[in-house]
Amino acid sequence: MPTAPDHGDLLLTECRLVNPDPSGHGYQIVDDAVIAIAGSSIVYAGPRQALPSAIAGRAGKRLALDHRLVTPGLIDCHTHLVFAGDRAAEFEQRLSGASYAEIARAGGGILATVTATRAASVSALTESGLQRARSLLGDGVSTIEIKSGYGLDLDSERRMLQAARGIGQELGIHVSTTLLGLHALPAEYRERRADYLDAVINVWLPTLHAEGLIDAVDAFCEHIAFTVEETRRWFTAAARLGIAVKLHADQLSNGAAAALVAEFGGRSADHLEYTDAAGVAAMAAAGTVAVLLPGAFYCLRQSQLPPIAALRRHGVAMAVATDLNPGTSPLCSLRLAMNQACTLFRLTPAEAFAGVTCHAAQALGLGKRKGRIERGYDADLAVWNLHHPAELSYWMGAPGPQHLFASGQQRY
Ligand code: NIG
Ligand code: FE
Repeated sequence: MPTAPDHGDLLLTECRLVNPDPSGHGYQIVDDAVIAIAGSSIVYAGPRQALPSAIAGRAGKRLALDHRLVTPGLIDCHTHLVFAGDRAAEFEQRLSGASYAEIARAGGGILATVTATRAASVSALTESGLQRARSLLGDGVSTIEIKSGYGLDLDSERRMLQAARGIGQELGIHVSTTLLGLHALPAEYRERRADYLDAVINVWLPTLHAEGLIDAVDAFCEHIAFTVEETRRWFTAAARLGIAVKLHADQLSNGAAAALVAEFGGRSADHLEYTDAAGVAAMAAAGTVAVLLPGAFYCLRQSQLPPIAALRRHGVAMAVATDLNPGTSPLCSLRLAMNQACTLFRLTPAEAFAGVTCHAAQALGLGKRKGRIERGYDADLAVWNLHHPAELSYWMGAPGPQHLFASGQQRY
């Protein structure tokens, strides 16, 4: 197929337009649709007959899509894809019976990746992260959230965030960056926990915020990581600077972490395997998105399921993400995460689709710009050789989309 120009007007014809239904019940499908793009935005998306003549008459490139499915570009709203090294040896340890928490307490786990990441340059981090990001792109992803949290000193956290921004620029996609300052206590602070908190809160946060490197902050609120009180201090400092918050919440135990992030009006509470009814109710009241991460559940061979029925009952928006990281989820396919969300968590394919489009956008504070094909939204589109959108969750390891557009530019 011909390649569209980098800028200017583009009219996609013969589209089978598929939008998510935010309720998670089914899809919003328009057969014989056209999508008009001007610059980086959608200026029309809908039935061919209703295309305003002023737009139809514009000069520009046209691309006929032969009635292929056109969905919003997918959004991976929770990744740790910038890091150095790998943890295949830890994978083997876990298969021989060691638990994730035991390995972490013995100084392995996250801290092993911290040692490797501290030794890596920005360009090395960018290069290795790019490989993983390209794999997501090949899967139809055009927006990625990337967390820091493997540097755990100011310079290394900065290098991770710079690498994340660099990956977005190199690939021409939107990258949301998150300062995961409270991920693990680094070894040099083992006896000085309070000093670590002071450094992250009083120095790193304002410094990296002033450098424009932070879109949100995150923490690992868990018995092997940081307490509710420590996380509360962290969120209070972020809120003072007007920075959005999100949280690794109740992944390994119920620490009332989901309720904490909801208390701060957080964008998302992520994992949630051990979240109780009060946590779900608090999220519903605050409009906090539930980010489900079946890749980590699968790799850790967990059995405690997130409270899907309660989330549904309370109308909490559910997103699905890869959690791509070297320890608990070396998963480089968002569609495989959708498949796992359906198979392991019993989401419907329509819920999984909303989970990687409109609800993922909401989890990143991008709900008015991304995750839907609609006038005024960014022209992020994936074109699929599929008959039905449920196939996005059904196939495992199948070929990616035929085309991907990010902000109006054709990536492939
Ligand atoms: O989302 N839970 C904490 N953080 C990551 C794991 C990071 C790691 O093990 O390297 C997660 O599962
Ligand atoms: Fe994570």
